[in-house]
Amino acid sequence: MASDATRQLFLTGLRNAHAMEHQARELMERQIERSTDYPQVEARLRQHLEETKTQIERLNTIFDELGESHSEFKDAAMAFLGNMAAIGHAVAPDEILKNQLANNAFENYEIAAYKSLLALAQDGGASASAVNTLKQNLAEEEAMAKWVSEHVGEVTLDYARRTHAS
Ligand SMILES: [Fe+2]
Repeated sequence: MASDATRQLFLTGLRNAHAMEHQARELMERQIERSTDYPQVEARLRQHLEETKTQIERLNTIFDELGESHSEFKDAAMAFLGNMAAIGHAVAPDEILKNQLANNAFENYEIAAYKSLLALAQDGGASASAVNTLKQNLAEEEAMAKWVSEHVGEVTLDYARRTHAS
């Protein structure tokens, strides 16, 4: 049986994850618009944007299953990770590089958030299918973090070539 305290912690974690994914979606939408010179980055961001929309739906399914509303915490979504959003907003010549570094941090933050949720899930009252759902989200974050980490060098050199060419 789930303890009430653990359930509350789990619900708070879920709400934070929901806010985090909203922030991720907004960041990626902005970055996609500004990554057209880097088609490989743009394509991977588009893929992860679609994954992120699905992740939000998955989180909503868990809220429904727990009998909790997911429409009452828009403010938290707006305020969450403001610093990251500022990085995403910054217009600088090397914006593409700054975004790769920020995305590396953001994806690893997301990984830790899902690991934390998974640690609480069972005692927090999550069903087996909810646990699997969280694992699906985690796997997508891990894949994206790996991609960002593996491509940061390549994107940097691409940027360097463009800077020298102009
Ligand atoms: Fe992500």
